[in-house]
Amino acid sequence: VSPNRKSLLKGKVMDLITHTTTLPLLFGCLGIFGLFRLLQWMRTKAYLRNAVVVITGATSGLGRECARVFHAAGAKLVLCGRNVEALEELSRELAASQGQTHKPHTVTFDLSDPGAISVAATKILQCFGYVDILINNAGISFRGTITDTTVDVDRKLMETNYFGPVALTKALLPSMVKRKQGHIVTISSIQGKISIPFRSAYAASKHATQAFFDCLRAEMEQDAIEVTVISPGYIHTNLSVNAVTGDGSIYGAMDKNTAQGRSPAEVALDVLAAVGKRKKDVVLADFLPSVAVYLRTLAPGLFFKVMASRARKERKSKNS
Ligand SMILES: NC(=O)c1ccc[n+]([C@@H]2O[C@H](COP(=O)([O-])OP(=O)(O)OC[C@H]3O[C@@H](n4cnc5c(N)ncnc54)[C@H](OP(=O)(O)O)[C@@H]3O)[C@@H](O)[C@H]2O)c1
Repeated sequence: VSPNRKSLLKGKVMDLITHTTTLPLLFGCLGIFGLFRLLQWMRTKAYLRNAVVVITGATSGLGRECARVFHAAGAKLVLCGRNVEALEELSRELAASQGQTHKPHTVTFDLSDPGAISVAATKILQCFGYVDILINNAGISFRGTITDTTVDVDRKLMETNYFGPVALTKALLPSMVKRKQGHIVTISSIQGKISIPFRSAYAASKHATQAFFDCLRAEMEQDAIEVTVISPGYIHTNLSVNAVTGDGSIYGAMDKNTAQGRSPAEVALDVLAAVGKRKKDVVLADFLPSVAVYLRTLAPGLFFKVMASRARKERKSKNS
């Protein structure tokens, strides 16, 4: 492009911008966008203020941060976990925070114990008489090769990450259906959409979770029950420290990927926004994992090659 043509083009662009109709149009669009965002924010606030929100796995990581942001948004919380001291401490911390907020209730139970769920559901319903939003957040992870992993470990992961949330959801659903109002939120993982090597039991439990709650969403539409599945990438929590290995022992180490993950407080705000907007399926991951999800569907052969190479590299670095 010659310098003359370049300056002519620049002049035309400037003319367009300074044209009498362009600036008002630009400000009009910005105004409409701002108004839309404001209305969305007000809708979210109204949806969460005084809503009864149950959070499982509230003692640590993402669950604890979700408790903080939903409490600050004015929700009435029921905090669940296995560690009664940690739950009570969080409840006291939130109750002492400023603003017009409600003191959270706590319900202690083990999600991997099938016999505990219906008793827990009854206690949860006794807290406020009903539940508006259930956040199935609790979960454990896994590190190991398939050949060295006992089926008991596969079952443990399924009990905690899949059967537990499914049973709790089924126990609370009838009261939601009766009120024709309710919202089930499940924290899955990007590994509920793609499977990466040495995470078999975890990926399988999260794929099952995604499938179950996708079915639930379709079936519950007639009863006005919302279903949101959230699939985060790495978050800087104790998930890898608490992960189990092939023989059922605790992994006990902070993985590099987890340590470099997003802050749980930041992810909790994204969860709040997704719930407020009644989103159906949300991926909260970086560019590469998000691309991998599309690759798995559009070019499975290439995806499998990438994963096989990842397995080779990981095995090599472990053996060296
Ligand atoms: N961190 C990540 O990189 C990442 C990425 C994607 C998805 N996620 C998902 O995010 C969710 C929260 O994990 P996190 O990262 O916050 O990990 P975390 O810090 O280890 O927290 C896990 C929570 O789950 C609870 N829990 C574990 N087993 C339980 C059981 N049998 N019964 C009841 N509660 C149980 C724990 O409570 P106790 O006090 O009872 O142990 C704890 O509060 C999980 O579903 C996880 O799969 C995490």
